[in-house]
Amino acid sequence: MTRILLLAPTGQVGWELLRCTQTLGNVIAVGRHTNPTLDLANPDSIRQMVRDVQPHIIVNAAAYTAVDKAEQESELAYVINGTAPGILAEEARRLSALLVHYSTDYVFDGTHQQPYTEQNNVNPVSAYGASKLAGEQAIQSIGGHYLILRTAWVYGRRGNNFLLTIQRLAKEREELRIVADQFGAPTWSRTIAEATTHILSQLVSPLYQADLDSLSGIYHLTCGGQTTWYDFTKAILKYGEQQPQILPITTAEYPTPAKRPVYSVLANTKLIDTFGITLPAWERALELCME
Ligand SMILES: NC(=O)c1ccc[n+]([C@@H]2O[C@H](COP(=O)([O-])OP(=O)(O)OC[C@H]3O[C@@H](n4cnc5c(N)ncnc54)[C@H](OP(=O)(O)O)[C@@H]3O)[C@@H](O)[C@H]2O)c1
Repeated sequence: MTRILLLAPTGQVGWELLRCTQTLGNVIAVGRHTNPTLDLANPDSIRQMVRDVQPHIIVNAAAYTAVDKAEQESELAYVINGTAPGILAEEARRLSALLVHYSTDYVFDGTHQQPYTEQNNVNPVSAYGASKLAGEQAIQSIGGHYLILRTAWVYGRRGNNFLLTIQRLAKEREELRIVADQFGAPTWSRTIAEATTHILSQLVSPLYQADLDSLSGIYHLTCGGQTTWYDFTKAILKYGEQQPQILPITTAEYPTPAKRPVYSVLANTKLIDTFGITLPAWERALELCME
């Protein structure tokens, strides 16, 4: 039976992955709150866990995700997002296991005006983005079998995310001022988990002779279409009872410690062409999430 080591069952994506991947095999979910623990800031705990479990697949949904705080805690962010993925890649290679790792649209600087492909140059504009890029590069330099899935603007019914923040603020305030000049694709955590499961089901199936050497690489994986935080807010509030006034503002009017890319829409063409997987438009995923 396929053994899958899942890191971060408490995260937005990890929570959904734990539920979606059950049909693939024996899923062993570990994190800072499990016994034994796995702490990505502790290399020994990573190595020990992988050697004990001997997984066929490692899915790393853990990360330092506090984008603004990372400006002050860049060393910790780098250890968790930059160094730890390399250790996972080393351990995966020792076992000939597949490493699935998530990365972000924040590896780009946002100067594009059309969707970024996997071939486009990276140039993060924040400490978080730089730490995630370091993780991608660490995995790539180790080699072995890996899928780096770059996603974006993740939301869901749990955790810290834009959807839940807007729903809370809508109850507390009569007016919301929302940034209207940043473009991206909101992506439901469950959609990410489902798409990952579909990919893995192809790779573990005896019907599919996966050539993991040639399939290893970076893939963009986001919901379809694009929007702004402002229009995303309007879409979220369509499903709510409270209807505060929503005012569009510029990024300059909402300064944050970490700079965000102005435009970070990702092209999913490689994912579609390679695995035949199309993610729903962001509006449809939001509708399903809200139902
Ligand atoms: N959120 C977004 O908008 C977004 C956008 C693009 C890409 N991504 C990427 O998508 C992936 C999943 O993100 P997410 O939104 O699901 O993140 P999340 O909800 O913030 O969850 C992060 C998870 O990482 C775990 N974690 C943090 N530090 C750890 C450590 N030192 N050792 C072990 N586990 C640790 C947390 O566990 P605890 O319960 O112990 O805190 C939590 O389960 C990440 O790679 C992220 O960079 C996210």
